[in-house]
Amino acid sequence: MTAIAYVNGKFTPAGEAGVSIFDRGFLFGDGVYEVAAVLDGKLVDNDAHMARLGGSLREIMLASPEPLDRIRAIQAELIARNDLQEGLVYLQITRGAAPTRDFGFPPDTIPTLVMFTQAKNIINSPTVVAGIAVKTLPDIRWARRDIKSTSLLAQVLAKQAALAEGCQEAWMIDSDGAVTEGASSTAFIITKQATIVTRPNSTSVLPGCTGKAVVALAERRSLRIERRAFSVAEALDAAEAFLTSATTFVLPVVAIDGSPVGQGVPGEMTRLLRQLYIEAARATAT
Ligand code: PDD
Repeated sequence: MTAIAYVNGKFTPAGEAGVSIFDRGFLFGDGVYEVAAVLDGKLVDNDAHMARLGGSLREIMLASPEPLDRIRAIQAELIARNDLQEGLVYLQITRGAAPTRDFGFPPDTIPTLVMFTQAKNIINSPTVVAGIAVKTLPDIRWARRDIKSTSLLAQVLAKQAALAEGCQEAWMIDSDGAVTEGASSTAFIITKQATIVTRPNSTSVLPGCTGKAVVALAERRSLRIERRAFSVAEALDAAEAFLTSATTFVLPVVAIDGSPVGQGVPGEMTRLLRQLYIEAARATAT
């Protein structure tokens, strides 16, 4: 089956889809994006993803080329056209293709909207059983990490450095020695006193949709949550660690920089939170 993508009003075979070499997303990274999971052919947490998209667009002063409700309809059509059961829908909006390369916003340029799907085994991923290893490294990103910018070079380099050492994710560390977040995920630890700790939202991190939902589920179960920064030393002293993202849901972190977290195997609370999230995702997918 030919994969179908969406580009500026048209559904086209993904291999033939393209945008201008003058597109500002390509030239400047002048754009924002969202990734929403698909389970049973339906979108997971999509209200949160659309709300964050609206926020990212506002912050970069870019008007969406389509109303957000129309974007939802395109997401649904793309899922149907690709017969996607489990995976993700990627969408990107850039400031469009201007006739010349100038840094300032071009007048009268129509933003570019690109969307495609990717199949992925999120529920039965082998990483769930084994847990993943994380490498830490300095967070060298810009100061507005709350915007889901397509400028991802720092994360690409961080992830590659992690992969080169046999790790599956990078945890980025700020100048105070605290973990900001993963290269493409939100970072959590669970202390020996069973308190779930994650960094509060600020301009230092992307406000994760999955993490937000997991925290809400934990609160409903009266689990203890602390929203504060934590250090690598604290993570290594924790009972459990995990990460959250649209493309992984809740994933156990069993080692950091080669040292085990807790028993070095996925923890009980992490397993419970993953289960709770999967149940909620299935129940609320649209
Ligand atoms: N990344 N932090 C960063 C830097 C991220 O890139 C992501 C998601 C998250 C988790 O956010 P959410 O739970 O809303 O997916 C946190 C996506 C999956 C990506 O870039 O592919």
